[in-house]
Amino acid sequence: MELLICNCSQLVTLGGPRRARIGTEMRELAIISDGAMLVRDGRIAAIGTRDQIALQASPSAEFIDAAKRIVLPGFVDAHTHPVFAGTRADEYEQRVAGVTYAEIAARGGGIRSTVRRTREAPQSALAAAARRYRNWFLRGGTTTIEAKSGYGLSLESELKILNVIRQLGSEGELRYVPTFLGAHEVPDEYRGRIDAYIDVLVHEMLPRVAEEHLAEYCDIFCEPTVFPANKARIVLDAARRLGFGLRLHADQFTADDGACLAAEFAASTADHLEATGPVGLEALRAAQVQPVLLPASVYNLGSTHYPAARRMIDLGLPVVLATDFNPGSSPTASMPMVLSLACTQMKMSPAEAVTAATINAAYSLGRGDTLGSLECGKLADFVVHDCDDYRELPYFFGREPARAVFIGGARVM
Ligand code: NIG
Ligand code: FE
Repeated sequence: MELLICNCSQLVTLGGPRRARIGTEMRELAIISDGAMLVRDGRIAAIGTRDQIALQASPSAEFIDAAKRIVLPGFVDAHTHPVFAGTRADEYEQRVAGVTYAEIAARGGGIRSTVRRTREAPQSALAAAARRYRNWFLRGGTTTIEAKSGYGLSLESELKILNVIRQLGSEGELRYVPTFLGAHEVPDEYRGRIDAYIDVLVHEMLPRVAEEHLAEYCDIFCEPTVFPANKARIVLDAARRLGFGLRLHADQFTADDGACLAAEFAASTADHLEATGPVGLEALRAAQVQPVLLPASVYNLGSTHYPAARRMIDLGLPVVLATDFNPGSSPTASMPMVLSLACTQMKMSPAEAVTAATINAAYSLGRGDTLGSLECGKLADFVVHDCDDYRELPYFFGREPARAVFIGGARVM
């Protein structure tokens, strides 16, 4: 089975070194004008200019005319919470009226209100909702998401969520990389008994998730009012012993503990980092932890306190951008919206934003050898966007530009 993709105004390959991109490398997209690509058995077989590639195609190859639009690797969204029941539109209305995210959480709302609904929902209902959101990811041009559990917070409900993620992954329309986030909050029945909940996480949930191979990564919401560093350390240590990769919700509201903890464990990523200062940034740099920035959650919480993306790039950190899709802080699945915010609010260049949303994100998920760029031998996950120039992705904001989406050479949208 062969596909020949031709007539791309810009084929944005992101070809380059076989590692996450840093510093000025983040501006190098390796664009081929009037590019073409040959796909064989789901992988990229050849890539170059139209003249170079057309000759190599067999006569039976299926022809895809990009009609002078841009073609990019599918976005890799390295931080999402895509399985939950209900919405929190009611809390959104309260926040707009001035109540803060922390106040809502302290009153028993926030994450815990979604947990109550998610526990009650049958697996089939959660899967149906997650399929709806899957389409939103595709419409924005995303082909891989990291998918966290974390709205169950009991063994049974966390397994239910992870099984939905497994089920949707097996359907093949979007790639899912599963993460166990049982340490997203302390659930209602363990309020004031955080140590007892950590015991359940360490002795029941983590071993079972590992045994059933339901997650590759373990994440924790490290924040003084949720899991402070001295408690988070116990969970991270247990997860590491069981072979999980580590990702942390770090320094969303409070400085440096989360980033320093991510560095101490040489985690794959430290995510959020809105409050991180020089000490935390230096720790991340020294330990080579990738920062995952989530500007849509800052925007949606009505804050202007964006993470210090420029300083991170100047320090040589391989920055990643992601949506943080979830029902509370960031109800968007749109990577183009995230690119827009990265450029206007964090002063990343459009090229840096594209790098952060593709190849750097793929490396943060241990998928840099197969995903995140259009290079020979990689999986053919690519998107035709309705733009002439890649800079139009953040420039025309508030729309979903994907026209055609391919995963492993198969058209899924
Ligand atoms: O990444 N901060 C913790 N977790 C999510 C929010 C989850 C929620 O509000 O439901 C986040 O922003
Ligand atoms: Fe999150």
